[in-house]
Amino acid sequence: MRLDGMTAVVTGGASGMGESMVYALAKEGASIVVVDRNADGASTVAANVESQGGKAICVKADVQSTEDIAAMANKAMDTFGSINILVNNAGARIIKGFLEHTKEDWDKMLGINLSGPFYCSQAIVPKMVTSGGGSIINVCSIASYMGRPNRCAYVAAKSGLLGLTRTMAIDLAPKNIRVNGISPGMIASPFNQKFAEGEETGSAWANDNLVGRWGNPEDINGAVVFLASNESSFITGSDIKVEGGWLAARARVGEELIISD
Ligand SMILES: NC(=O)c1ccc[n+]([C@@H]2O[C@H](COP(=O)([O-])OP(=O)(O)OC[C@H]3O[C@@H](n4cnc5c(N)ncnc54)[C@H](O)[C@@H]3O)[C@@H](O)[C@H]2O)c1
Repeated sequence: MRLDGMTAVVTGGASGMGESMVYALAKEGASIVVVDRNADGASTVAANVESQGGKAICVKADVQSTEDIAAMANKAMDTFGSINILVNNAGARIIKGFLEHTKEDWDKMLGINLSGPFYCSQAIVPKMVTSGGGSIINVCSIASYMGRPNRCAYVAAKSGLLGLTRTMAIDLAPKNIRVNGISPGMIASPFNQKFAEGEETGSAWANDNLVGRWGNPEDINGAVVFLASNESSFITGSDIKVEGGWLAARARVGEELIISD
């Protein structure tokens, strides 16, 4: 197993991609700390890991709270004795017009999606150093690369997270900690349920990438296990896009019909 003897902290581990990552990391031998503000969900996911023969605990925490996060990091270290992997996956999105975004909306989007990974990393890094180093994975987004309509605070936060990823890679390299991103595209998790099941958006969005389908939470598993493991030991400050090629190219309407001028 690729992660034998390692401990992984996964924020937002109660649902969607976080839940899927928890099972994938546990399957490779990692002990898991499932962190979520949804205590019941986190508890169910940790119990599922245990019932499959793995090791997991759950911690109720809001990634916006430095108190919650400090307590979580201590509990993780006290339970497993080391922390080698941190996946900053917890995230949320508000969709409304630019002028309709309130200060609360803005603060919440920046708080969960950008400050959260910063707080969690600051709490976990000293424990990772004690553990000999490690790998931090920030779940960014296609919104880290391009504007998206009616999502100004979410796009600003996810763009910031990609920048934070790069700069953390520089600052933490001397501590033997690698920092990378994963940028999902349209993934049919609870986050996107209404679009995946929508009459119009369900099939239209599936065909809006090069692979031609919605992604599933499990589509992220390969990237997260790879970046967590020593197989990626020469990769830091990077980002793996898991978006069916959505960012690779855009065609204009009718462009596919033009063979030559
Ligand atoms: N689904 C997509 O298409 C998509 C695309 C790009 C990026 N992302 C990002 O992927 C990550 C996971 O998204 P998902 O699709 O699995 O969503 P999801 O809604 O299924 O899961 C998000 C989890 O994060 C938890 N969470 C939210 N705010 C929290 C907080 N303040 N503190 C602690 N936990 C909190 C939720 O309780 C939930 O369990 C997010 O960061 C999201 O922005 C998702």
